[in-house]
Amino acid sequence: MDFNKFDDRFRMIHEKINVTLNGEPKRLYDASRYLIGVGGKRIRPLLCLLACESVGGKIEDALETAVAIELIHTFTLIHDDIMDRDELRRGVPSVHKTYGESTAILAGDLLFSKAFELCDPKVVKILAEASAEICEGQEMDMSFENRTYVTEREYLEMIRKKTAALIRAATKCGALLGGGTREGIDKLAEYGLNIGMAFQIRDDILGVLADEEKLGKPVGSDIVEGKKSLIAIKAIEKLEGGERERLLEILNKRENTRDEIDLAVRLFENSSAIRYCRRKAIQFVEMAKKAIKELPDSDAKEDLMEIADFVVERGV
Ligand code: IPE
Ligand code: IPE
Ligand code: MG
Ligand code: MG
Repeated sequence: MDFNKFDDRFRMIHEKINVTLNGEPKRLYDASRYLIGVGGKRIRPLLCLLACESVGGKIEDALETAVAIELIHTFTLIHDDIMDRDELRRGVPSVHKTYGESTAILAGDLLFSKAFELCDPKVVKILAEASAEICEGQEMDMSFENRTYVTEREYLEMIRKKTAALIRAATKCGALLGGGTREGIDKLAEYGLNIGMAFQIRDDILGVLADEEKLGKPVGSDIVEGKKSLIAIKAIEKLEGGERERLLEILNKRENTRDEIDLAVRLFENSSAIRYCRRKAIQFVEMAKKAIKELPDSDAKEDLMEIADFVVERGV
């Protein structure tokens, strides 16, 4: 997928972010801009703009809301790294490592507030509801760490809230602001929801198999934290005897050695859990593409189709 073709949209997004995150105390605003300045895929604002364009709207109709969604996303990353005790994000030390936990919490809160100041008033309710779902999903994610058995159904509900809700909101808001019909808005919301599910399953796979330097965030930390990713759930289900016990032991322990993490990864692979997750992610992508199949043809629709495939093929 060539994201260079979206350069103009990314430039517009950045300009808007820069004027929004400008204030005093400087240290707080620096902390809130810190991660935004070092990268990120910007997939949520891009999806919001493309959803808007796919129903015949103009970029300007959804730009402020698209940026608001990236601010909400950044807020969740900052707080998530505190909760997950992860010290690397986008290839740099996470915000709480750099600015301390208190300023990191405030930087997140500031981004959240600015998002609601910036977004189109017509979408406040959609964004507020998605934000509440993220909190619910994050609480579920953490509570699963203390449980040995989590079902696939529970996992899917958790990622629907923590990840898919915001991506769904991005495409739904875009379609609404672009003047989409009731049906068009629903279809794009469904697309976003399914993309979001696939996106998180892929994120879990990358969190186990990717190269840390390239990914820019810790690899293996889900194992140390005892996260019940779909990979872990399936591996626990499929392994037997000693292998299963060894995996449970590693997941239940909080301080793992490199060897233990490597063993858990091998067990994931042996159990075919990773293959199962790849298939599951592809199923969600197929549902996403199906949801928008009947929309009138446009460049934006083509781009949305391509992004759907990117979500399960991506290496970062
Ligand atoms: C990371 O999201 C958090 C998840 C919901 C999986 P992204 O993979 O979109 O992170 P950036 O914005 O590109 O860094
Ligand atoms: C992603 O959480 C969802 C949110 C940040 C709300 P994860 O903990 O799974 O994501 P990464 O892997 O740290 O980006
Ligand atoms: Mg995390
Ligand atoms: Mg997390």
